Amino acid sequence: DWSMENFIENEIAKIRETVGDKKVLLGLSGGVDSSVVGVLLQKAIGDQLTCIFVDHGLLRKGEAEQVMESLGGKFGLNIIKVDAKKRFLDKLAGVSDPEQKRKIIGNEFIYVFDDEATKLDGIEFLAQGTLYTDVIESGTDTAEVIKSHHNVGGLPDDMQFKLIEPLNTLFKDEVRALGTELGMPDSIVWRQPFPGPGLGIRVLGEISEEKLEIVRESDAILREEIANAGLDRDIWQYFTVLPGIRSVGVMGDGRTYDYTIGIRAITSIDGMTADFARIDWDLLQKISVRLVNEVAHVNRVVYDITSKPPATVEWE
Ligand code: XMP
Repeated sequence: DWSMENFIENEIAKIRETVGDKKVLLGLSGGVDSSVVGVLLQKAIGDQLTCIFVDHGLLRKGEAEQVMESLGGKFGLNIIKVDAKKRFLDKLAGVSDPEQKRKIIGNEFIYVFDDEATKLDGIEFLAQGTLYTDVIESGTDTAEVIKSHHNVGGLPDDMQFKLIEPLNTLFKDEVRALGTELGMPDSIVWRQPFPGPGLGIRVLGEISEEKLEIVRESDAILREEIANAGLDRDIWQYFTVLPGIRSVGVMGDGRTYDYTIGIRAITSIDGMTADFARIDWDLLQKISVRLVNEVAHVNRVVYDITSKPPATVEWE
């Protein structure tokens, strides 16, 4: 009969039988799915697993450190961390169209991953955190699944790996339960969805390091306050965006002319439709005060009160 314990035991046996004494590669994003695959594989095959974690410089505050400390440290995964910030920023310089930005980030991701993977010897398998919903949404053609979810571990066409997808019979809530059963912390297991292009689509228009920093710092403050209020599991996704508009404000004796931060917080089942979260006014005020006081170059905060549709969750 089905239980999470049995599932783990069966999967481990299956993985060991499939892999034998060969080596497996996994792209880690810091997200729930690839993290759970990593911990499960580590349990099954230990050092035969090598992970690649690409830091594209568009991650949230503390995210890369958390992946390295938790997955690399506590869980002992063998992780190659690639610092590709400059590579991504250079490629994105002067680009303001959202779809163009997505394309560049997605492609660059695959190139970086590819560069690292080709340095490794004797890898036979590529592991992926494909879920059951990915399989049914995109048909069973795995290459298509990867392309449409150009997140992590994308499969370059000229790489002939055999695939291992231990989560492809599970739904998201089951993956979370699996992660918990494997002893993983809530901070990973209950991580909110985060898009592959990361903060790159939360700085609207052209990206600069200064703008990324504003989004990164404001997002960290928002996350802290939402967690402190105990709302982090009720609100499906919450983040800040930098529209790039500047407006007049007043601080002390002086006039300011600085950036506006937008707060987006939604409730949703699957991201297909969404409603803006009814966050308490007092909490919003607290967040607003912190954003203006603690994030340089911000003098105004707005709250997004549109549903999806007609708006999307992200602003780009
Ligand atoms: P939208 O903005 O389309 O977002 O309403 C729905 C969900 O998808 C996420 N999202 C993305 N995820 N690559 C991703 O991996 C993307 O390019 C992308 N765009 C949006 C978004 O964060 C939300 O959870």
